[in-house]
Formats: sequence, structure tokens, C-alpha cells
Amino acid sequence: MKKIKSLVIGLGQSGFDLDLDPKRKIIWTHCKAINKHKNLDLCGAIDSDHSKGFHIKKKFKDKVLFSSDLEECLNEIKPEFISICTPTNTHLDLVKKLSNFKGIKYIFCEKPLGTNTKEAQEIISLCKESKIILATNYMRRWDKKYLWIKDKIESKSLGNLISINAYGTTAMYTSSSHLMDLILFYGGSAEKVSGYIQEDFIRKVHGEKDPGANAFIKFSNGVTCHLIAKSKTPNHYMFEIDLIFQEGRIVIKNDGKYLKFYTFKKTDFSGTGYLGLSEKKINIKDNERMLDAITDIINCEFGESLPKSSGKNALDVHKLIRAINKSSLKNGSFCKI
Ligand SMILES: NC(=O)c1ccc[n+]([C@@H]2O[C@H](COP(=O)([O-])OP(=O)(O)OC[C@H]3O[C@@H](n4cnc5c(N)ncnc54)[C@H](O)[C@@H]3O)[C@@H](O)[C@H]2O)c1
Repeated sequence: MKKIKSLVIGLGQSGFDLDLDPKRKIIWTHCKAINKHKNLDLCGAIDSDHSKGFHIKKKFKDKVLFSSDLEECLNEIKPEFISICTPTNTHLDLVKKLSNFKGIKYIFCEKPLGTNTKEAQEIISLCKESKIILATNYMRRWDKKYLWIKDKIESKSLGNLISINAYGTTAMYTSSSHLMDLILFYGGSAEKVSGYIQEDFIRKVHGEKDPGANAFIKFSNGVTCHLIAKSKTPNHYMFEIDLIFQEGRIVIKNDGKYLKFYTFKKTDFSGTGYLGLSEKKINIKDNERMLDAITDIINCEFGESLPKSSGKNALDVHKLIRAINKSSLKNGSFCKI
């Protein structure tokens, strides 16, 4: 198979830098993932900041063309696969430019898709009109641990899912949007929400206000969820989910570092028929989810299949955040999502 010519736009944390962190064991950035993927060829890297060219040259020598000029780079390389890793408020403008350029088949866009629901919808429409397969980097949707849990929910091996408690930190559009995406992945179709925006600390991300929140979500299948996405600094990191089933419980600790799996069993603390939680050890090895994401994306056929994380689930996250904001303005009254 001929390798797919690829281009990364934005060479900051998500595009290039996160993989310079020696403590990260799996691939986190688009440059590294594309460079390692057997079917892709990283041909170009773009950043409006010229100084980023130095790092690209150091890492990839002359194999990868660095440029600050998108149009020039597109004409030179004619890529089919593009990763967008620039600040969120640039995504729509970039997709507008890319959708006018013939030959692009795949856009792998960082999350959140846009700065609001309208922008996200516009990005989805532009990709649809240009027959571009759009994927969003809610990367846990390609992560074996999180997929194993989804399978447990669908197979009902612990009975029905009853409720979800999710614990994150501040900034709904930033790390908490990953948490919301998983809540929606597991919970199903979210119906309404009561929310309160955090006011005592508001994070600014790329110059935009991005507050945290507390929310109570009701799903159409009866599942309920309490989301806590608050903290007083972005440096506090918490990413945990507690799923309660009819016949057990699954707890995701420390961003999936540990999974705790319980079933209700007879206990030695009571002879009166109460069943307690009995823990079973679960050990699922980390997979290279960014590589699996790329494989999934390039295996999609436009109009026939969607990547595991596409514009669709990204838009659902936007709608949830919009409803939390609306509810908070109405003093926590339930708002439709
Ligand atoms: N999936 C994740 O876990 C994850 C992690 C971090 C960031 N993100 C997302 O990735 C996106 C980028 O965030 P980041 O933290 O990598 O940002 P960053 O500030 O670290 O890097 C952004 C880079 O884009 C460049 N840039 C800005 N506008 C540009 C333009 N119009 N054309 C070309 N280059 C441009 C900047 O010079 C900078 O080098 C955001 O949407 C963010 O939410 C996702």
C-alpha cells in the first residue's frame, strides 16, 4: 500500500511537544503517531511560529518539510491526511481553508472541535460537503481499557448500568471535555442537565475563559450521572469515573492507570443476606491508541462508516457544555441537551 501523505498543523503540546516528556510511555502527539504509523508518511509540519521549524529539523532532518505557509505547503505536498493541533479558536478557519483544497480525505482534529456548538456544526458540515472523513481526538475512544468497559455495558454482564459519577478538574472544554465524552459514550443519549459553573476560579486557555462546573445529567435510558469538573488550578489533575451497575461496579482510577471491577457477592461481615462488593483484578495493557485511531480513520469509507471518535460525539460534548452553561444561568434548573 502506498503511504498516505500527511501534514500536521500546529506543533505545540498536542502536535509535537507532549512526546518530549520522558514519563509518557505511549504516543500522545500527532507528529509521533503519524511518523510511526505504517500507512502514513509525515511529509509536512506547519506552525505560524517559525521557531518550531528548528525542532522539526532536529527530529526529522529533511524528511519533513516545515513551513509557516499553509497554502504553499498544501500545494507542495498534496496531503490526504491532515492533523489540526492548533488552538481551538483556529479550527474552523483552518477547516474552511482545507475544505477548499482538493485531495484531502481525512482530517484528524484536536478536541474540542470548535469554540462552541455552532462552530462545531459548521466544521462538520464543511467536511461533509467536501467528502472529508472527520475524526476528533477524544483518544480514549480508541483505548482498550475504555473500550473493555463499553463492552461490559453493552453485554450487560453486570446487568444494566444505573449511574455514573465522574471526577475531573477545571475547564469544561479542556480536560473535562474528555470526561464528558466518556460519560456520553457510556451513558447513551443525554436528555437534560442541571449545572452550576465554577465561579471562584476560571481557567483561561489560549486566551479564552474556560470554567469548570458541577452537573447532574439524566439520560433517556434512566441512567443518571453526577459530574464534578472543578479545581482551583489546572495543575491538579484528576480523571476518575465510577460506574454503578445492577450487579456490580467498575471504577476507573487515575486516568485508567487502575481499573477496579466488583461484583456483589456474599460477605463475611453479614449473615443476613446482604451482598458486598467483591473485587476482581483486571489488567489490561496500554495500547497505542493514537496508532489505532489512525488505522480506524483511514479504514473508514466516506458516507459509510465513521471513526470511533468523529464530529458526532464531539458535537454532543458541545451540546452538553452549552446546556450546563444555560442551566447555570437559570440557577441550576434542568435544561434539555
Ligand atoms: N487531546 C488532548 O489530550 C489534548 C491535549 C492538549 C491540547 N489539546 C487540544 O489541541 C489544540 C492545541 O492545543 P495545544 O495545547 O497543543 O496548543 P499549543 O499552544 O501548545 O500549540 C499550538 C501551536 O499552534 C500554533 N498555531 C497557532 N495558530 C496557528 C495557525 N493558525 N496555523 C498554524 N499554527 C498555528 C502555535 O504557534 C503553537 O505552536 C487545542 O484544541 C487543545 O484543546 C488536546
